[in-house]
Amino acid sequence: MITFNEKTKVFTLSTNKTSYAFGLLDDKLLVHLYWGKKLTNEINENWKDEFCSRSHSPFDYGEYSTNFMPLEYSQYGGGDSRICDFSAVYSDGSRVTKADFKNYEIIDGKPEIEGLPSVYAEKGDKVSTLAVTLFDKLKNLEIILYYSVFEEFDAITRSVKIVNNGETMRINSVLSGSVDFFGAPKSDIIHLDGTWARERFVTRNEIAGGNTSIQSNVGVSSHFYNPFIAVCDSDTTELCGNAYGFGFVYSGSFIAGTEVNAYGTIRAYMGINPREFEWVLQNGESFSSPEIILSYSNEGLSGMSRVFHNVIRNRVSKGKYRDIERFALINNWEATYFDINEEKIVNIAKKAKEIGIDTMVLDDGWFGTRSNDKSGLGDWVENKDRLPGGIKGLAEKINGLGMNFGLWFEPEMVNPDSDLYRAHPDWIIHTKGRTPSQIRNQLTLDLSRKDVCEYVENAVGNILENANVSYVKWDMNRTMSEVGSALLDAEHQGEVMHRYMLGLYSVLGNLTKRFPNVLFEACASGGGRYDCGILQFMPQVWTSDDTDAVERIKIQYGTSFIYPYSSMGCHVSACPNHQIGRTTPFDYRCNVAIPGQFGYELDLNKCTDEELQIAKKAVEDYRRLGEIFHKGDLYRISSPFDSDVSVNEFISKDKNTVLVCIYPKTSIVAAKDTYIKLAGLDETASYELDGKIYGGDYLMNKGIWYCNDFEYKSKILELNKK
Ligand code: DGJ
Repeated sequence: MITFNEKTKVFTLSTNKTSYAFGLLDDKLLVHLYWGKKLTNEINENWKDEFCSRSHSPFDYGEYSTNFMPLEYSQYGGGDSRICDFSAVYSDGSRVTKADFKNYEIIDGKPEIEGLPSVYAEKGDKVSTLAVTLFDKLKNLEIILYYSVFEEFDAITRSVKIVNNGETMRINSVLSGSVDFFGAPKSDIIHLDGTWARERFVTRNEIAGGNTSIQSNVGVSSHFYNPFIAVCDSDTTELCGNAYGFGFVYSGSFIAGTEVNAYGTIRAYMGINPREFEWVLQNGESFSSPEIILSYSNEGLSGMSRVFHNVIRNRVSKGKYRDIERFALINNWEATYFDINEEKIVNIAKKAKEIGIDTMVLDDGWFGTRSNDKSGLGDWVENKDRLPGGIKGLAEKINGLGMNFGLWFEPEMVNPDSDLYRAHPDWIIHTKGRTPSQIRNQLTLDLSRKDVCEYVENAVGNILENANVSYVKWDMNRTMSEVGSALLDAEHQGEVMHRYMLGLYSVLGNLTKRFPNVLFEACASGGGRYDCGILQFMPQVWTSDDTDAVERIKIQYGTSFIYPYSSMGCHVSACPNHQIGRTTPFDYRCNVAIPGQFGYELDLNKCTDEELQIAKKAVEDYRRLGEIFHKGDLYRISSPFDSDVSVNEFISKDKNTVLVCIYPKTSIVAAKDTYIKLAGLDETASYELDGKIYGGDYLMNKGIWYCNDFEYKSKILELNKK
């Protein structure tokens, strides 16, 4: 619900469990007042008394200086010297923006953001949107702030639209929003960072003075930092305390972080990275920012994650596969790498079929001259030496086994050694006169161009039109460098990265609409583009190229801070593991992968009978328990980053089934007794575990006994409410 109280001048945005409020000061300035646990009383009009005048900063709002005010949308050039949401250069060279409150509107439901993915409302959802317009009279510029309130999801989304009715101007920063917290005595910032094969490790630091930011300026959300931050009280744990999350619905360069002012107010911000971004706005044009999802919980970090999980799996991801059980697949990549032919793929599929796998995915190497990563990328024509019947013929053979067929593409890229590049050398992201750097021998196609988007869409579309493909793995294996486009003039070169994203989203939107029965999975050398933008089109992502089970526990744990397990592609691979050389038992590898979107990435023909039995049971368990892992509530009980045993608990939405995943990292002979305290149970109910009955309160206050005395003794426990 959204209200504006004319007397107190307070806007209040309420979800079932949270409130977010800001006041209108002197009918001009939007001042942030509150975000947190739901308020039962209205904020009184004396809220203005909280803001006393502070010396040594411009008094740009009468007796107030914006430098010390908690602002809803800060603008560059006035009194606020912190990181600002908006900054622009106008036709006269001036850089000052002063847009004050003009009016507001409350809209039922949620408008789309043109050209960009965004959280959506479905019929029957309790969702309303507040649009507040700020107006800079001198520049004839409007800044419209959008807040959509998803009551049942306890989430709020924010985005911004800039409308220019004045002379030509250049935007050089337009963040999607910031929240100025009146922080607890001590607060922390949490972010997810890493690199290739080590994505989304959790970093938690105290918010000290100054600015802490994470960013990507490489054109994709990246392995290095994920477009997510959380701010929490320093004593917030996984299960209790205040946690405030920010998730960005965007797959390109971004910035997010916190800045503390001299009086202790924390500004948390998120948006397109101003570095490598500029946007020229002519008279009559507008620019819309991507959206932020705000998630607050007073049930700790797991509570904050549960809000994100519910929103992302139900109102970010779209299409047929959002709600239905997906595939249990086998992918040939780690079994064959580029060394493929029809016979090998069919043999891998046949064995997989025997243990209950339903989908065979053919990875890289099936097209053009692609027998390694040096050539052929961009030439999306089957290699008939390897696949005599082409993709159509192979798909028929796989279908003939009673299985679905899936196919790998990397449509956004090109090898210089390819027919496509030879025909269109100007189709790549590049800067005139500079040698374009290569990563994995490849260059990025310039999707800021319409003709390139059309090529990509047709290349993928033609294959999908002609063969029975049920699943597409959409890979993307490099970041951008030497950014520029052959088609844009000097004035617009700063727009390339964002235009690329608009192009990509349009291609993905068209293809997913044209092929609604195909499940698209995103991949970017593993999890290099794992974000809420990509998840709108592809409900799952190949979580990481690191398939080692021990490492994966950490990667999946960090990923779950914002993204649900239903979005994580998790495969069992061969040992010694190809990335780290470690050998772990087969059942351990299965237990780590089962909670995600499960599959195998090895040749099952090379497994022992005992391993095949475990493999078969894992497929059965995945099918039986998938609904709870993918739609239930997650409680992270113990972290792999600071404990020898990592524990995740999943509870079905009806609260009747509880799954507890226990993964030891290192074990000790004659280990001390451990009790794993569960959370979120009905404390008055009884639960059955392995034929024994336990009280809910006993399981939460004393816990389940576990002895970490044997290497890799993993378990998935099933408890049922009596
Ligand atoms: C990178 C992906 O992350 C891998 O899973 C695999 O598909 C390779 N690309 C193929 O080149």
